[in-house]
Parts: sequence; C-alpha cells; structure tokens
Amino acid sequence: MQINRLSDALGAEITGIDVGALDDQKFATIHAAFLEHQVLVFRDQSLAPDAQVAFSERFGPIETRPNRPYILPDVPEITVLSNRRADGDPVGVINAGDFWHTDLSFAEIPSRATFLYALEVAEEGGDTEWSNMYLAYETLPEDTKRRIEGLRGVHVFDRRKNPRTRVDAQYAANPDAVYGLPIPDATHPMVRTHAQTGRKSLFVSPRFVVGIDGMDDALAQPLLDELFDHQTRPEFRYRHTWRKGDLLMWDNSCLIHIGRGNIKPPGIRHMHRTMVLGDRPR
Ligand code: SIN
Repeated sequence: MQINRLSDALGAEITGIDVGALDDQKFATIHAAFLEHQVLVFRDQSLAPDAQVAFSERFGPIETRPNRPYILPDVPEITVLSNRRADGDPVGVINAGDFWHTDLSFAEIPSRATFLYALEVAEEGGDTEWSNMYLAYETLPEDTKRRIEGLRGVHVFDRRKNPRTRVDAQYAANPDAVYGLPIPDATHPMVRTHAQTGRKSLFVSPRFVVGIDGMDDALAQPLLDELFDHQTRPEFRYRHTWRKGDLLMWDNSCLIHIGRGNIKPPGIRHMHRTMVLGDRPR
C-alpha cells in the first residue's frame, strides 16, 4: 500500500489496495491515514454495492434516513448521485452538495464520514472540493476565536429558510416533497473538538447554518458572513478531479465540501454514496 499526500491542505491518495479485502492491520493503517489526511482517495477500485456498505460500516453505523431520494434498489444504504436520465427522468441526485457544507450537519448526530464511489465519470466537470476546518479554526484571529467560543450555530435542512442557498432545480416542481420533510433544526457548537484527534475545528457552513442560537441576526449574520468567507480560503482547500474506480472517503468532523457540477454534455457522472454516523458534536 502506498500513501501519497495530495496537497498542503489535506488529502492522500492510496494505491495498491483493494478496500473490499482488508485485513485488520491494513484497516488500522487506513484508519490512521484517515485521521491524519481527512480525505482518502483509493484508486482503481472495483466495488460492488455490498462491499461499499461493508467497508463503510467499519467506520460507524450507516445512515439510512427514511425518504432519502434516489436510494439504490435493494441496497437502501446507498444513494445514487447521477446526471443520467432514464425515459427523461433522473436516476439519481443531479447536483448533490452544490453549496459548501458538512454532510448531515442538520441532524442531531451528523455524519462522521462519507464514501463516494465513481462508477462513471464525465470527461469534463463534476469535481469535488474540500476545505480543512482545523486550519480554518487555527488561523482565525484570536479575537474571533474568543467571540465564537461557546456559541452554537442553527443548522437547517430546508433550503427555503436559508437566503444563502436556493431550491435545487431538480426539486423545483415540488420543493415540499424534499424540503418539507419533518426534519427538526439542530444546534451545534461553532467550534467542535474531534472525537478521535482531540483537535478543534470550525463547524459552520453556508448550506446549513442560518443563524446563531440566542443571538440577534443584526449581530449573527455579519459574524457568519465573516466565518463563511474565512473558511474557504484557497490555502485550506483540495479539489479532486475524479477517475473511474475512485473511492473517496472524507471526515465530516473537520471538513466542509462542495460538488462543483458543470458536467459537460454528453458526459455522465454516476456515483454511489454511503455515509456513516458519528458522535454528537462537542
Ligand atoms: C456530496 O456533497 O455529498 C456530493 C459531492 C459531489 O457529488 O461531488
């Protein structure tokens, strides 16, 4: 197994390994690399849905929230992300993650890790980009660190309640079917401590955080704008251009990410996604 760093900010590429056939020693090496590099890129995988589920489950319980759109028939742990259409209808989520976010941060127990496997990639477009929230926190001015200490962000699933986002075009005809699901808002600390590494990171994102618990918007919104601006500085980021057979996993406890979209027709990007749950942010 070879592990090579992908950027100064985050990420490592792992070659010479089949994630569908891992002994405990190799798993321990991967787990350590995951905590160190935050995004792992496994090249040249040939991964059946059940094998992806089995690998994901080694990191925690799989997320199987009801009413998730585009669940893979027979394997409900997997969500299909795809711009393919069958008889005119999408077969998957077309524009997943089009605003900077952390997966499932709107939930009481957000996702620990996400696994995304590329079955087909387009010639152009469809990159994914991550930003390192350890670095974002560590580089905040001391005064800002003091201002946000102990504050909690309000995380909201419904895009219609978030002026920094817009309703996804795929759901525009019936937004209530997706955004009207009974998902209660959650509050989480704006600075969280990673359950495994003990490091502090900034835990906000423009996709999900719409306010600060107990703080008037006149004060909260400028502070959020400042943090959203800071957290995507280029030096915190790694952008991945996918190859067929890539399996990526990332640590949602200390990253935000965005799907860059812009797939050039007639390219098809077809992916299988799993997520595992983590701890209550502290
Ligand atoms: C996601 O945000 O979950 C998916 C990102 C992507 O498809 O690039």
